[in-house]
Amino acid sequence: MERKKEREQTTFALKGDLCFSEDKDRLQIWEDAYVVCEDGICRGVFSELPKRYQNIPCHEYPGRIIIPGLVDLHTHASQYAFCGLGMDLELLDWLNTHTFPEEAKYADLDYAKDAYRIFVDDLKKGATTRAVIFGTVHVEATLLLMELMEESGICAYVGKVNMDRNCPRDLCEESAARSVEDTRRWLNLCAERDFRNVRPILTPRFIPSCSDGLMEGLAKLQQEYGLPLQSHLSENTGEIQLVRELCPNARFYGEAYEQSGLFGENAPTIMAHCVFSSDAEIELMKQRGVFVAHCPQSNAALASGIAPVRRYMDLGLHVGLGTDVAAGFSLSMFRAIADAILCSKLRWSVEDRLLAPLRLEEAFYLATKGGGTFFGKIGSFENGYEFDAVVLDDCSLSCPRSLTVRERLERLIYRADDRNIEAKYVGGRKIA
Ligand code: GUN
Ligand code: FE
Repeated sequence: MERKKEREQTTFALKGDLCFSEDKDRLQIWEDAYVVCEDGICRGVFSELPKRYQNIPCHEYPGRIIIPGLVDLHTHASQYAFCGLGMDLELLDWLNTHTFPEEAKYADLDYAKDAYRIFVDDLKKGATTRAVIFGTVHVEATLLLMELMEESGICAYVGKVNMDRNCPRDLCEESAARSVEDTRRWLNLCAERDFRNVRPILTPRFIPSCSDGLMEGLAKLQQEYGLPLQSHLSENTGEIQLVRELCPNARFYGEAYEQSGLFGENAPTIMAHCVFSSDAEIELMKQRGVFVAHCPQSNAALASGIAPVRRYMDLGLHVGLGTDVAAGFSLSMFRAIADAILCSKLRWSVEDRLLAPLRLEEAFYLATKGGGTFFGKIGSFENGYEFDAVVLDDCSLSCPRSLTVRERLERLIYRADDRNIEAKYVGGRKIA
């Protein structure tokens, strides 16, 4: 009975001006058209509703733009409390001065509850329908974050962070064994919770924070539980030098992950940043199907650099966009799209005339289908995709002339904020 009701509730059509990507080069634009959701799955777009769907409910959004939900491939819930603060340092000093002291506070569940509530509420107000999220080392606080995310209806991978070296005592896990043991305890508690929207992801912070013993232990857990993994890679020159000193046997940073079997060989893997990846590192990412989470705002804010995203796309790597709060100062995925374009233009003008700036189509693709692919068939209105959609009202952006749908989408990408979001659907369920 329940199943039948659920089926009915997740079978409907939306009508409005539809914009989505099938590939990175073109935007599909369907004016005043229908997109059909059947049992949570997209059945494609239509100018006229086919006969077989004529009895399903149709929610009309006249004059509104409807896009697939946006996918944030990399962010830190535990850093949202200092989002927009302390932006005058580079990565390693920023971690030690602002980030680690903040993350240590999540040992206190009351603090964690207040902080994560604010993060989840704000994420829910935006256009993000899927996210891949770092918590902290703390098992209970991370579970609490997962519970709040579950309630929100946004689909997410959430990671309890692992770190057993080069960090303050009150944040550092006691030993590699203890870190692995806590991760196992966390995974077992997750299994008991029977989450529907939220899944765990292994989260070794980055090589400087993780001993070889810890990485080995996590590789075993990965095999046992079949878990995806997220981490950071080649973000900052000082960080890369530190990895060289810590891992003299690795020819490049990514090889330090590879040597533990944690570079995508056994499970889907996201590496955030990849600003300074060498040819050999890029080649291995391609071989292993590693997803690059491009975080342009964070890379600008920490003066890290600008990743060669066009090169990654041309080579056929998986690429998505991340907000990387709080190195990034905005949770907005619209802002991430705009920043990816702007940063690619700066890179082109000051660093490398060979890599053309990203076009709107390409950046939009990265924020939808590009990152969405990490979750499966996500980020498009093609037949067979899970039905995530965001309805946008651009009436507040006045204009003395009439605009095409593409122009309206372009303006929203540069100028939208939460007030432009009228409705949000995830997996066929309306969550806002
Ligand atoms: N590298 C390791 N930890 C972090 C983090 O929290 N933020 C960013 N931007 N890079 C990292
Ligand atoms: Fe990060």
